[in-house]
Amino acid sequence: MQSRASNVAGTGAGEAARLDPLGNQRLLVLSNRAPIRFVEEGGRQRAVPTVGGVGVTFLRLLERSGGLWIAWSGAKNNPARLMLPTDKPRFAIVFPHLTERDIASYYWGMCNRGLWPLMHFMTPNCHFEAANWRSYCHVNRVFAAAAEAESDLYDVAWVQDFHLALVPALLRERCAHKRIGLFWHVPWPPEQIFRVFPWRRELLEGMLGSDLIGFHTPMYMRHFLDGCERICGAEVDRKAGLVHHGDRITRVGAFPLGVPVDHFRRLAASDEVQAHGRKIRQVLRTPTVVLGVDRLDYTKGVIERLLGFERFLERNPHYRGKITLVLIAVPSRTKVAEYAALKRELDETVGRVVGRFSSEGHAPIRYLYTQFSTEELVAYYQAADIALLTPLRDGMNLVAKEFVASQLKDTAVLILSEFAGAAEELKDALLVNPYSIDQIAARLKEAVEMPTAERCTRLARLRQKVEASDLDLWSASFLASLPDKSITMPAPARYVS
Ligand code: UDP
Ligand code: G6P
Repeated sequence: MQSRASNVAGTGAGEAARLDPLGNQRLLVLSNRAPIRFVEEGGRQRAVPTVGGVGVTFLRLLERSGGLWIAWSGAKNNPARLMLPTDKPRFAIVFPHLTERDIASYYWGMCNRGLWPLMHFMTPNCHFEAANWRSYCHVNRVFAAAAEAESDLYDVAWVQDFHLALVPALLRERCAHKRIGLFWHVPWPPEQIFRVFPWRRELLEGMLGSDLIGFHTPMYMRHFLDGCERICGAEVDRKAGLVHHGDRITRVGAFPLGVPVDHFRRLAASDEVQAHGRKIRQVLRTPTVVLGVDRLDYTKGVIERLLGFERFLERNPHYRGKITLVLIAVPSRTKVAEYAALKRELDETVGRVVGRFSSEGHAPIRYLYTQFSTEELVAYYQAADIALLTPLRDGMNLVAKEFVASQLKDTAVLILSEFAGAAEELKDALLVNPYSIDQIAARLKEAVEMPTAERCTRLARLRQKVEASDLDLWSASFLASLPDKSITMPAPARYVS
């Protein structure tokens, strides 16, 4: 990988910094998920795109700026290295070797059954086992070693998400001079919840090897700072967003992740996507279409959404036969017991509501348990009048922003959980408490009956918000906030609990 010259000649300085936030610096991205994963089909292996915010985000940045990405391949046998995109290679992806045992205990055990529910404030779903923690430490070391092996090829290491929390400190030991950023794509719980984690101090100290740590919202950042202070005994400057621990200073900030607005607009304007959107509408044949899209995850409030829809139909019989809920549920983490149980519960609940409210030629729910491409998803966004997104807790919820960015009509309505990170910015959505089925039903009625003028005003404001914090601005502001060099200085000793 060569040092790059700026490739955005002809743009103004601010715009150039937005489109080329790295300047001449070379970027290394480390994440558990790659933008693709390998699947075995009929004895052959093929690469398929992955779902979730992280993959989509960095694919775009690296396609534009070049660089290097270290991530899990999702398979047992795969090439150790690959150039992407395959038709027009721009960056290399390196797959560290992880055994099936590593994946079982690090990914399934610690990440999905331990850290994921912990970060989403869902302690009853947490399973903490020492063997899984050991495996988590081991896999983080494998990633750090892979980064060290490539250290001639990058200037800035940008670590993604809760799978690799220990990598910043491990990398700091190995490549002290590198600048290291960490972005936390999931929420961060209040200190009293985080405290239940048996390896709470080790996790925080791993993260504090970073020069900069980013969260989606100021609230998650505050929770994290509380943990650093009360669990590690770090000196915290809340106003400046600085954590002084050991001999290092880490900057902490809120950087709400955005979506590539221009990309969604281009897709929204395409004839094929629009034709597909019209077709979806024709097939559904009801005056109102409500859409829900998520990975099938117990944090997403899918059951609550269905119960809210059921209550809306119960209370408003005149809307029966006139409204359809399209429920897109992407298969996710199916090996985890809680996810398998959720799938069964969802199947049963959909069956019950469909059985209860179907009439000749009409079913109130279109349930799609599958993964769509972005083009297909945009067609669904356009076909819908209302998006109903009800996570019980969500780091950001990119679907909410994508829905807004994909609208051609001015009358679409967004109903959004107040517990999604996106709700901090999208205050012109109809905000809902997903723990209240009555409130979901009431919000649906409000959305269906909302006067056109109010719909237009709300959507116009939502568009402004989504455009003002798009994906390019997000990466530019994170990278611009990375200190020029790591700050090391002696810190006073503090009380540690
Ligand atoms: N997505 C997709 N295909 C689907 C459903 C979702 O590509 O069938 C993408 C969607 O466009 C979004 C991401 O998956 O970019 C979901 O991100 P979000 O922040 O909403 O939730 P996460 O899955 O990261 O928890
Ligand atoms: C969330 C996490 C990502 C993760 C994605 C999909 O968005 O923040 O780190 O990649 O879910 O989950 P999976 O376990 O399939 O990678």
